[in-house]
Amino acid sequence: MKTRHCRIERTMTLTIRPAIEADLPQLVVLLRQSWLATFAADLPFEAVQTFAKADPARQYAEAMWTDFSVADLEGAVIGMCHVVGELVAAIHVKPAFKRQGVGAALMNSAETAIFAAHPRARLEVLAFNAPAQAFYRGRGWAEVRRYATQECGAPIEAIEMVKAR
Ligand SMILES: CC(C)(COP(=O)(O)OP(=O)(O)OC[C@H]1O[C@@H](n2cnc3c(N)ncnc32)[C@H](O)[C@@H]1OP(=O)(O)O)[C@@H](O)C(=O)NCCC(=O)NCCS
Repeated sequence: MKTRHCRIERTMTLTIRPAIEADLPQLVVLLRQSWLATFAADLPFEAVQTFAKADPARQYAEAMWTDFSVADLEGAVIGMCHVVGELVAAIHVKPAFKRQGVGAALMNSAETAIFAAHPRARLEVLAFNAPAQAFYRGRGWAEVRRYATQECGAPIEAIEMVKAR
């Protein structure tokens, strides 16, 4: 499946702001699309079936949206980030809008918020997710350990990365 690319024109305004309840439908679509585009090809088919059946993207968005920041492109939610204490719990950019600085804008905001209160930030990334690791490494994050975890029931290796203030 090929992802179409949507170009962000220079004249457009991208805002990082707290999520509001009206963002929920767009957040659910964004999280579903990002999970399928990023994880589905590298996980066992049963994990993808579990994702489709249980819809954890909707559950997560409905439970946590009050703590999300969103990237708002003139009314369209094209990215999200979830910070919990010193942890970047999630960051997703709509597949069609990747590689245009949206992730960097979300992460700048997340790191600023974390470092205002904590000396270090941390996150978890799946071991097969090399593009995300490249994104983090480019921002000064470093791997500290690898451990076993699960994604939609599938056993998988994860990496903890940290960044100091
Ligand atoms: C990881 C993610 C948040 C990055 O957001 P993005 O908007 O695509 O990234 P940006 O355009 O801000 O990239 C900034 C820099 O990071 C690096 N980078 C970003 N994506 C990269 C990739 N796929 N491969 C290598 N380097 C990458 C580059 O240095 C890039 O600068 P450049 O485009 O000028 O070369 C986004 O790709 C995403 O949502 N991925 C799917 C979900 C995911 O994996 N989330 C993280 C789970 S832990």
